[in-house]
Amino acid sequence: MKVLIFQTEDEAKLRAAQIILSRVQSVPNSVLGLATGGTMEAIYAHLIEGSSNHSVSWSETVTFNLDEYWGIPADSAASYRTYMNEHLFKHIDVAMKSTHVPASSGDDPSDAAQSYEDAILTAGGIDLQLLGIGKNGHIGFNEPTSSLSSRTWIKTLTQETRDSNRRFFERLEDVPKYALTVGIGTILASEECIIVGTGVDKAAAIKAMIEGPVSAACPASALQMHRNVTVLIDNDAAQNLDPMEYYQHVHPEGRETELSNV
Ligand code: F6R
Repeated sequence: MKVLIFQTEDEAKLRAAQIILSRVQSVPNSVLGLATGGTMEAIYAHLIEGSSNHSVSWSETVTFNLDEYWGIPADSAASYRTYMNEHLFKHIDVAMKSTHVPASSGDDPSDAAQSYEDAILTAGGIDLQLLGIGKNGHIGFNEPTSSLSSRTWIKTLTQETRDSNRRFFERLEDVPKYALTVGIGTILASEECIIVGTGVDKAAAIKAMIEGPVSAACPASALQMHRNVTVLIDNDAAQNLDPMEYYQHVHPEGRETELSNV
């Protein structure tokens, strides 16, 4: 894993946006995997600003979101489809038909999950996957104990995740109990991953992801098995890391040194 530690959370999020923007600029028909949640809001604001400042077109870009609550209307205020439309899609020139979010309702969640997995494969797989991380180490909505080779599936949310996401709903009872999520195996099949975690609340999960054993107890630790992962974190989220001098030596303050300078 490439571990980039920044002084501030905004520097980490800005770098994430720069990586995505440079990908869209150099390969306009990229297939991007996208995430939602609090961490992503600033990243998407930077993406919108960067796309406008540098005239980057998303007209050929295809997106697949990681997850969606199961059991709410897709157009409800708290759905991830609404989140994506509001925080990103309606501010850039992406074709709405090229944006994909898992289904939020239907007769059979397993069928919906399979069609989503099939759509990703038909698009040629994910080129660049953007990830956040839950306090319990989840990626997408793959909660601890999820199979590390899982493909898109329906998952029961933990109470901790429902409590964390309570802020997006009027009442705790309104927070769905289930979500359709891209699986860990699906994430591992992407060409490249970037994962962003900031704040002291994420420090334990970040430590387990980077330095802990590969274990279903921390789904993000499966990323240790991926060959091209960049971790973007701030000092607060990095505070439990052990060979801190090493991370700082390789990438001082998050800088990516040329090999010739190492
Ligand atoms: C949501 C997703 C989740 C979030 C995670 C962190 O699409 O993929 O794994 O990234 O729950 O959420 P925040 O950023 O709100 O702390």
